[in-house]
Amino acid sequence: MSKLTLSPAWRALAAHREKIAAAGLTELFAADPSRAERFSIEAGELVLDYSKHRVDAEAMRLLAALAAQAQLPKWIARMFAGDPINNTEARAVLHVALRSRDKTFPEGRDVMPAVRGARERMRRFVGEVHGGVLKGADGRAITDVVNIGIGGSDLGPRMLVRAMRKFAKPGPRLHFVSNIDPDDLEAALAGLTPETTFFIVASKTLTTAETLANAARARAWLEAALGKSTGLSRHFAAVTANPAGAEALGVPPERVLPMWDWVGGRYSVWSAMGLPVALTAGMDAFEELLEGARAMDEHFRTAPLERNLPVVLALLEIWYVNFFGARSRAVIPYSEDLRDLPAYLQQLEMESNGKRVDRDGYEVDYETAPVVWGAAGTPSQHAFHQLLHQGTHLIPVDFVVIGHDGESSGARAALAANALAQSSALAFGNPAPDAPHKALPGNRASSTLLLERLTPRSLGALIALYEHKVFVEGTIWNLNSFDQWGVEHGKNLARALLKGEKSTELDSSTRLLLARMRERD
Ligand code: F6P
Repeated sequence: MSKLTLSPAWRALAAHREKIAAAGLTELFAADPSRAERFSIEAGELVLDYSKHRVDAEAMRLLAALAAQAQLPKWIARMFAGDPINNTEARAVLHVALRSRDKTFPEGRDVMPAVRGARERMRRFVGEVHGGVLKGADGRAITDVVNIGIGGSDLGPRMLVRAMRKFAKPGPRLHFVSNIDPDDLEAALAGLTPETTFFIVASKTLTTAETLANAARARAWLEAALGKSTGLSRHFAAVTANPAGAEALGVPPERVLPMWDWVGGRYSVWSAMGLPVALTAGMDAFEELLEGARAMDEHFRTAPLERNLPVVLALLEIWYVNFFGARSRAVIPYSEDLRDLPAYLQQLEMESNGKRVDRDGYEVDYETAPVVWGAAGTPSQHAFHQLLHQGTHLIPVDFVVIGHDGESSGARAALAANALAQSSALAFGNPAPDAPHKALPGNRASSTLLLERLTPRSLGALIALYEHKVFVEGTIWNLNSFDQWGVEHGKNLARALLKGEKSTELDSSTRLLLARMRERD
């Protein structure tokens, strides 16, 4: 057995679980009229109501003891100190530097001049675009910008461009292409004019097959319309930690914005990877996004464990995954503008903590990251809520709800009512003694994360909250949350298959499927 599952804090939780399993949320609420106040935390513009979780004060105390046993405060300090906590790649994990306001940070390894320099260049570029100065090969102003990237070089900017729609400045339309399936680019380019279309090639490594293939296709599309000319390079920028790769693609050096090995792809939206966000809402709004994240960083660093929003969210997940056997968590934003949040969190959480070997190289004997899934608002009610309410799986839910959005409250009331109705029905159920098929058992856990308003600042705090939650879980599960070796092998295999390498070593299923596909070519 592992040190973790043998530890006193783990055992105490396992024992307490038996007590809690016998109590229902209805009884827990009845026993404590101030439960909603006691089990909620406010941090800046976010409020977390976790009263509808199957916990009591003792459970939260024991969970905080688990975090303390894992030396969480020390790990937080190590991350903020720039220690190489990404041990399998010997890298620091410094996405927090991207939103720091410190003159020098971290101590002993100052990355701030590079961060500030990159942001300055972003500001200049955004200014050029919004000022209509950015022109294509024939001198016409750019009307459309296509971000070509995948994973962390796509999901964050894509999600935030949609979420910050209401803050959009007059400027080019943004489009996103990630899939190696040529139909993705083709659909994005349908109706666009090559002369006025600009591409951002976003890739930390610039070795990612999908992004290279789409960048090459984009160039071919431009060439077909504009002919082979050096002017084509005016249609490209790149964001990368591999400037030589960008040069090889023909991107002019002044249009290559930097990334660094101390920023993980899925933690990179705060860097120049966020360029599409800044192009949509302007650089000031982008800075507000960073401010929101910075406020969450400060909260994470300083709030006591039991009142610490990312810590509490992480502990609740551990409670269900490790002590109740939950295998998934649903994320349901009641905001159409946040509809891409579940996809974003899938990468953030599952690529970070979807692991079975701990930091010391041992296979774990406890469950780690659950499957994260979900969809926005009331359409999700008509798709999968049946299973949430009456199915056989335990699926804790994160409801993300916006308080006000500047529109008349009447127009929004139905949305809020639906969100609250779901969390209440999950928690308290609905007995139907004469019709068991109608009965909702209740006692189903959910968090409600309330954003006062959907602003760049509250969004920054929300994303940083989930980033830190992932880190807390990784710390307790003794995982390195910052590598992703599992993705590499599949990529290599695809490469080999494409080249036709080692076909004799292929498994018979792959061989047969390949042969069938070739027959139909
Ligand atoms: O999916 C694996 C991955 O390495 C992610 O971690 C990363 O966000 C994505 O590929 C894209 O990588 P890059 O930015 O280097 O193209």
